[in-house]
Amino acid sequence: MRIGILTGGGDVPGLNPAIQQVTREARDRGWEVLGIRNGWAGLLNINPDDPTSAERHVMDLNRRTTRGIDRFGGTVLHTARLHPDTVREADMPAFLEGEAQYDERRWADMTPHILRVIAHLRLDAIIPIGGDGTLSYAARLHKEGVPVIAIPKTMDNDVQGTDVCIGFPTAITRSIRTVHDIRATASAEQSIGVIELMGRNSGETALMAGHLGSADRTAIAEVPVDAQVLAPLLRKDMSAGGESGAVMVISEGAKLENTLVDETDLPVRTDKFGNKRLGGVGEILARDLSARLDVPVFSLQLAYLMRAGAPVSQDSLIARAFGALAVELLAAGEAARMTVLQDGRYTSVHVSETGKGAAQVDVDSFYDRTAFMPRITRPSIAQSLSF
Ligand code: F6P
Repeated sequence: MRIGILTGGGDVPGLNPAIQQVTREARDRGWEVLGIRNGWAGLLNINPDDPTSAERHVMDLNRRTTRGIDRFGGTVLHTARLHPDTVREADMPAFLEGEAQYDERRWADMTPHILRVIAHLRLDAIIPIGGDGTLSYAARLHKEGVPVIAIPKTMDNDVQGTDVCIGFPTAITRSIRTVHDIRATASAEQSIGVIELMGRNSGETALMAGHLGSADRTAIAEVPVDAQVLAPLLRKDMSAGGESGAVMVISEGAKLENTLVDETDLPVRTDKFGNKRLGGVGEILARDLSARLDVPVFSLQLAYLMRAGAPVSQDSLIARAFGALAVELLAAGEAARMTVLQDGRYTSVHVSETGKGAAQVDVDSFYDRTAFMPRITRPSIAQSLSF
């Protein structure tokens, strides 16, 4: 057996332990393991007619080459957000220019080339580690007959079918620490601190960080934030329980309602694939709150620090468990699964589950929209989030 492994999308702590675990488990079975660099872009850039091309985009993975990598965040394989079924002209390698058939948006489906490269590398299966975008291309490859075992990772925790993705525990741990740290400043300055958390259009990061960090208020992406209602609640929080400041968290994907501040102040930024970059809603809300209240309000974006540095223990554990399970599934002859953690149990679902789009917070079960607070009181929460 000869397998390929790649990491796609934003990097998170836990990717390296997953790569290491897959390598060890596979090598122990006598398999070969090829690390594909830069996610799906690695395969796109391999020219089967150029004998030196593969060397630049793949690396041999074994116990020696993966030794010690688990101590660090990021990914030794590097990562990219490219999806081979929608390749922009600017990302097309020169040797493929003649082959690319662009649609009206000037994007091309390069799957036939990817299949040629997989055959050229003599890969029997691929283990892609990624979020929704990376894994939905895994589902496409499965439809084309390539055996795939997907591993979900994203600090946003919005992959359908699993309670937890690699990267989420570290993101929450970093966020909780920030809530506690900022509380001291907010209290000292008798002010309100608004902490904006990444998570795209899912409120999972804000919900869990707000809950576990005991933020005074939590605004999630799924529920519009009416500053007129929120402002007096925060004002009250400032004097509650002997504190003289207040701290709230807000999802970067949250929408504001009835705001006094012109939201067009927010610069509109897109990534190179035309996806809107989020971020800035915390600052708009802070300006709005300070216009309504007679107290200082400051905002801060935790941003990439949520997914920077070494993994916390739970991320290492989940990464290793998913890595080991992925190899076990392949050894058992499976060819279209995604490793998941459901109700505290490591298991797998069909890889097509990733095609269902990004998961969001179950607002009715876990959020109080009038108090702007998580409502995580049922004992089942430990199970339903496996966290
Ligand atoms: O999807 C993971 C994530 O960290 C989001 O929370 C965030 O909005 C986005 O990636 C940032 O993207 P980029 O790494 O392209 O700036």
